[in-house]
Amino acid sequence: MENIVLEVKDLRTSFFIDKKELPAVAGVSFKIAAGETLGIVGESGSGKSVTAFSIMGLIDSPPGKIMGGSILYKGENLLEKTEKEMRKIRGNKISMIFQEPMTSLNPVYTIGKQLAESLILHQNMTKKEAEKKAIEMLKLVKLPSPEKRIKEYPFQFSGGMRQRVMIAMALSCDPDILIADEPTTALDVTIQSQIMELIRDLNRKTGTAILFITHDLGVIAELVQNVIVMYNGKIVEYASVKDIFKTPYHPYTIGLLNSMPKIAGPREELKFIRGMAPLPGEIVKGCRFKTRCDYVTEECRMEEPPLYEVGDSLVRCWRFKK
Ligand SMILES: Nc1ncnc2c1ncn2[C@@H]1O[C@H](COP(=O)(O)OP(=O)(O)OP(=O)(O)O)[C@@H](O)[C@H]1O
Ligand SMILES: [Mg+2]
Repeated sequence: MENIVLEVKDLRTSFFIDKKELPAVAGVSFKIAAGETLGIVGESGSGKSVTAFSIMGLIDSPPGKIMGGSILYKGENLLEKTEKEMRKIRGNKISMIFQEPMTSLNPVYTIGKQLAESLILHQNMTKKEAEKKAIEMLKLVKLPSPEKRIKEYPFQFSGGMRQRVMIAMALSCDPDILIADEPTTALDVTIQSQIMELIRDLNRKTGTAILFITHDLGVIAELVQNVIVMYNGKIVEYASVKDIFKTPYHPYTIGLLNSMPKIAGPREELKFIRGMAPLPGEIVKGCRFKTRCDYVTEECRMEEPPLYEVGDSLVRCWRFKK
C-alpha cells in the first residue's frame, strides 16, 4: 500500500462577486503519496493557485468559499480544522512557496530572524538552536556564506537568493508536503533551472512530497512523476509524466505540448491553442473545451464528459467513452 499523505476529494471552491457565484475549482480530486512529486499544469485562471490555497486554508472568505469536498492530510480533514489548528499544520506539516519571494519576506527583519521565527514557533527551539538550524538550512539550499548572510536583510539578496531563502524557510520544519506555486516565474532562466534542480535534490534528500504548480509543461518534465492538467477549474488529464509526453490523450494536453518550443530538431512554427477558456462563472453546456477542440461532436455540445481511464491515464473526453 502506498503511504498517502494528502488526498483531495471533489474539492469545490468559488468566489462570490456581486452575489454571483464564480466557481474557480469545480470538483478536483487527487492523491499525493509520501515523497511523490506531482505537477499541476494549466493556463492562467484554470484554478491551480486556488487549489493550493484551499489546501493551505488560505482562501480569503469573503469573497472565497470552499463549497464542498474534503482535503485529507494523513486521513484528517483539514476543512474541519479551526484556524488555530491550521496554523500548526501550515508552515510545519504542509509548507508553501509562492511566485514572488519578495512579498513573502518581511523587509524590516534579517533573514536569520525570519528563518528562526518559525523554528521557535513550531519546533520549540531556543534562539541559539534556531540560529544554528537556520544556517544549516541555508547551506542545504546552497546559499553561499550563510553565517554572514543571516545577518542581512531581504533587499540585500537577489531574486534567486530570496527564493532559496523561501525554500529554506518552507523546509525548515521538515514538512511532509511542499507546495510550490510557480516558484520560478519571477526569475531569469539560468536561476530558474538552478532552483528547479535544488527542489529536485531536496525531494530526494528529505523525502518531502512536492506539489509543483506551473503553466509551463517544459518546467515539470524533469521534476515530477505525475501530472494533473487543469482546464477551467477541472482536471482534464491525470497521468504519469512519461505518459503525458509519450501519449497525451486530451486535445487540450496535446495543444499544450504542441505549443511548447522544442530544444532539439528543426525549428518548427509553434502551434497555439485557438480561442479562449470560458469566463469565470460562465455557464457552459457540455464540454468546457468544445469551442477550442478539433474533435468536437454533438455529444460534446450536450454533456460534460466524465474522467475515463485510458491505459494508466485519466482523461475527460468523450473520445474515450467505453
Ligand atoms: N481573490 C479572488 N477573488 C475573486 N476571484 C478570484 C480570486 N482568486 C482567484 N480568483 C479566480 O479564480 C479563478 C482561478 O484562479 P487561480 O488563481 O487559481 O488561477 P491559476 O490557474 O493559478 O492562474 P495563473 O497561472 O495565472 O496563476 C480565476 O478565474 C480567478 O479570477
Ligand atoms: Mg496561480
